[in-house]
Amino acid sequence: MADLDGLKEGKDFGIGIPVKSEKFFLKGSQALDWGMQHRLSQIFNPKSGNTVMLAFDHGYFQGPATGLERLDLTISSLVPYADVLMATRGALRSSITPANHKAVCLRCSGGQSILKELSNEAVAVEIDDAVRINASAMATQIYIGSEYEHQSINNLIKLIDTGYKFGIPVLGVTGVGSDMDRTAKYFSLACRIAAELGAHFVKTYFVEKDFEHVTASCPVPIVIAGGKKIPELDALQMAHKAIDQGASGVDMGRNIFQSDSPIAMIKAVRAVVHENETAEKAYEMYNTLKNELN
Ligand code: R5P
Repeated sequence: MADLDGLKEGKDFGIGIPVKSEKFFLKGSQALDWGMQHRLSQIFNPKSGNTVMLAFDHGYFQGPATGLERLDLTISSLVPYADVLMATRGALRSSITPANHKAVCLRCSGGQSILKELSNEAVAVEIDDAVRINASAMATQIYIGSEYEHQSINNLIKLIDTGYKFGIPVLGVTGVGSDMDRTAKYFSLACRIAAELGAHFVKTYFVEKDFEHVTASCPVPIVIAGGKKIPELDALQMAHKAIDQGASGVDMGRNIFQSDSPIAMIKAVRAVVHENETAEKAYEMYNTLKNELN
């Protein structure tokens, strides 16, 4: 029975004070439901507006790529420094402790391999399982201009519709086939298509020329993939330029887990993404941490 002793009546009703109404911080997300916005706030830091997503979902079509041979050995130690874990359900359940406070962006497409046409993907997770695994977002790839373009766009549409039923945002990933054009014009097209179809945020690649056109013409936040491993300073410069030109963070894999010092690298990336540190300062930080950790 509820304790009814000593109940105090309300008396301070703030008469005359207008009701507080805060604008949601994320680009293009003001009209979303509370649950969607709450999940997006687990992905994007409301203070910086940005995110460091750690991508280790490559195995779903590449198998045990360098740095991902043993997720328990290589990725577990990086988890504390990520805002979001971008991974498959298999990787999470088999190799990552659930005792962490990290948001999950669940890779929800699959069905192809590096041995065949990359765009031939299907939705590879039922929404029930995304809910079970406590996903803050679901991700699928669209391959604009590729053989299975329509099928991959259809996967995105299906995921967005099921995501709305349960309040789970969707990340539209702009996949590139081996012969695709990596230009601002191409990525503007791909990102805009994803956003217009309802993706709540979009992942794309940084391009040196006119990246601002890609971010400006996409009405929802953009995060950049890291791409293939490049020297640490170059990767930090890429992240800095992307943020400077309107990206809201990184979804970075190989440039972190294939680094000589992955923990030092993810910390340096965080400094760029969340504290607007210059790439050069962040690289100094990387070297200092690398020496300490070794
Ligand atoms: C690969 O297909 C995945 O979508 C990765 O999550 C993505 O490419 C980001 O990883 P990386 O920084 O290694 O490119």
